[in-house]
Amino acid sequence: MVRVYRYDYIEYVRGMKFTVLTFGCQMNVHDSDWLIRAMESRGWTAVSESEADIFIINTCSVRDKPEQKVYSVLGRLAPLCKKAGSFVAVGGCVAQQIGEGFLEKFPHVRLVFGSDGIAQAPQALEELAKDHKKTLVLNDFVAAYPEREGGLAQPNQDLLPPGIGTIPGQAFVNIMQGCDNFCAYCIVPYTRGRQKSRSSEAVVNECKSLVKAGVREITLLGQNVNSFGIDKKGTDSSFAELLYKVSAIDGLERIRFTTSHPKDLAPEVIKAFGELPNLCPSLHLPVQSGSDNILKKMGRKYDRARYLGIVEGLRKVCPDIALTTDIIVGFPGETDEDFEQTMNMMELVRYESSFSFKYSDRPGVAAVKMQPKVPEDVAQSRLARLQERQKSITRESLEALTGREMIVLLERKSKRQEIGGVSWRGKDPGGRVINVHFAGLDEEQKLGGKLVKVKITEAKNHSLIGVKMGEIW
Ligand code: 5AD
Ligand code: SF4
Repeated sequence: MVRVYRYDYIEYVRGMKFTVLTFGCQMNVHDSDWLIRAMESRGWTAVSESEADIFIINTCSVRDKPEQKVYSVLGRLAPLCKKAGSFVAVGGCVAQQIGEGFLEKFPHVRLVFGSDGIAQAPQALEELAKDHKKTLVLNDFVAAYPEREGGLAQPNQDLLPPGIGTIPGQAFVNIMQGCDNFCAYCIVPYTRGRQKSRSSEAVVNECKSLVKAGVREITLLGQNVNSFGIDKKGTDSSFAELLYKVSAIDGLERIRFTTSHPKDLAPEVIKAFGELPNLCPSLHLPVQSGSDNILKKMGRKYDRARYLGIVEGLRKVCPDIALTTDIIVGFPGETDEDFEQTMNMMELVRYESSFSFKYSDRPGVAAVKMQPKVPEDVAQSRLARLQERQKSITRESLEALTGREMIVLLERKSKRQEIGGVSWRGKDPGGRVINVHFAGLDEEQKLGGKLVKVKITEAKNHSLIGVKMGEIW
């Protein structure tokens, strides 16, 4: 499952005519990125919302809050669609869920495209821009991974709009679509459909062309990357085999992958953390709950002992691995005791950071019928307690890194600047944010995509400060 790390949208801006508003997970961000490139390769131009004629909303329905946001954005866009030729296209998980309903309820929506429909969205957008009376719904699931043509990631950084997924030197590569796990709380298997792995050859070729274009860090993306290839029944590589193939690409300095389901994390993948020099020592491993009772109700198919065994195995081969997680509090039937087990799990694993959520009923998922529901105020106070504890664990783990030397892949200028140079932010192999001050650096000099060795001098709440130790390369 890909984590949802923000509810508000990212607005891509460039040139004129269309805009893409993105909600939800990294996969949505990556899909939007691709769509922008695909439209631009067809001669369209991305602009700010106030200048756009065509509005594309890429939606998320993993919890109720991001879904509601879509309706409020649609309301806001209605008056802007009064000019001739203007319309809204709704894509992503809510589009898959609601389908035609969008056309019926919102006359300014003329295109609805679900998870598998995105590959045809560029063509559809062009058709609708030509024929103002037409509407289209692209919600059919297809049997195999829908390869996308046009706008494939050839990241000329000067041409790309700003935003996540377009960080200089970094790229995301989809390796699969959908999920077959049907965890009791999760809408994803319904909105993204059955698991469909891409061919390992297509993945490796895309990675090779990215590295050739200057990319140094690749993140392999999927709802549950560890089950890559299972739908192909052994006719293609397993995820571990794919990792080794991508790792062997000449010039690729860093690989990451997200998201992992603990039940599918193969021993070979754990081993890879000890063997592959360019596999980053960081893993997002959603635990969801620390209670065996709740894990069973969630249908997660692992228990505390198995999860802790995986953590132990990972730390044995890669002692510095930075572990992060997703946690749901207030799942139906969660008692105080169950919640204490989750708190205990945090003490045992000491996640560097976590995304935590109050359980939210999603239409059609198994947990909707599970009782008793946890009262809102109880769930809220559990969430607050958990987040407070995480804050101090994060702080302590970051403080323990002071004095260490790290290689940082620089991304962009830091928000906070000091006099007498320029500060840039980037990430270490563990995925931690590090701000580095470069004394005497020209404001205009672009360091995005460059690597630099730093020594950590200070820990903040969510980031580190480092000083440059040598050349930038
Ligand atoms: N309620 C609350 N959180 C949820 N997640 C998924 N479905 C729900 C839900 N119904 C969380 C899980 C998942 C993350 C992306 O969102 O923790 O890993
Ligand atoms: Fe992740 Fe489970 Fe949802 Fe699949 S069903 S996307 S594994 S949380």
